[in-house]
Amino acid sequence: MDVAEALARRRSCRGYLPTAVPGEVVERVLALASRSASNSNSQPWQVHVVTGAAKRRLTEDLLAAYDTNERGRDYDYQPPAEDWPEPFRGRRRDFGDRLYGGALGIGREDGDRRAAHHRRNYDFFGAPVGMILTVSRRPRQGALVDAGLFLQSLMLAARAEGLDTCAQASLIDFSAVLRRNLRIPDEQLIVCGLSLGYGDRDHLTARCRTARLPLSSFVTFHDGEDEYCGA
Ligand SMILES: Cc1cc2nc3c(=O)[nH]c(=O)nc-3n(C[C@H](O)[C@H](O)[C@H](O)COP(=O)(O)O)c2cc1C
Repeated sequence: MDVAEALARRRSCRGYLPTAVPGEVVERVLALASRSASNSNSQPWQVHVVTGAAKRRLTEDLLAAYDTNERGRDYDYQPPAEDWPEPFRGRRRDFGDRLYGGALGIGREDGDRRAAHHRRNYDFFGAPVGMILTVSRRPRQGALVDAGLFLQSLMLAARAEGLDTCAQASLIDFSAVLRRNLRIPDEQLIVCGLSLGYGDRDHLTARCRTARLPLSSFVTFHDGEDEYCGA
């Protein structure tokens, strides 16, 4: 699979087969992701890979923390739902409608069923492999950009191996649980989680399709002398 195909065929997977992912495949994917560009080749990322009994223990603790609402994260990946500005608020709502309404048949007002789906994040959606990505707290802003590149490379490399993934920022809502379980030092900022495995094509969530905006909505081409505004 070439890069274009991996990009076109990647989408977030929220239902996995129990099939184990061989350790050497996980290592191959991580090694490819480490080819990502980073500020002065600083490679600020660290990855915790959880499988087997370690994943079961972590999942139990995360679900318990979710049920008792013991939240706390290292940084605000996203604002609270009510603070999203337009046009992002509308796009977020459209995504929610596609996943909850379209794929799962759960209405906007059905908070209990929506929460039950959201809770599955903390079981890594049943994936055999979970990952937690951290970066050094200093220098922070650039390291977050680099971590984003790493995450995308990881997802594409996984796709090229026939694997599916879902980036999971929801996991960082329980950073104390992650820190305790995985012995993550305070100096490391917990950036994002990820599930990895072979996607279950029959899972209801596999029906969720997201759209993309046309280039004209986000690209400005500067190619004419008339537009030059400098001194
Ligand atoms: C950094 C990041 C964090 C995300 N966190 C979650 C998450 O916690 N749970 C989830 O179900 N999806 C999560 N997603 C997936 C997005 O919802 C998804 O990428 C977006 O809707 C576009 O759909 P696609 O990935 O299928 O193309 C996350 C994506 C990114 C890039």
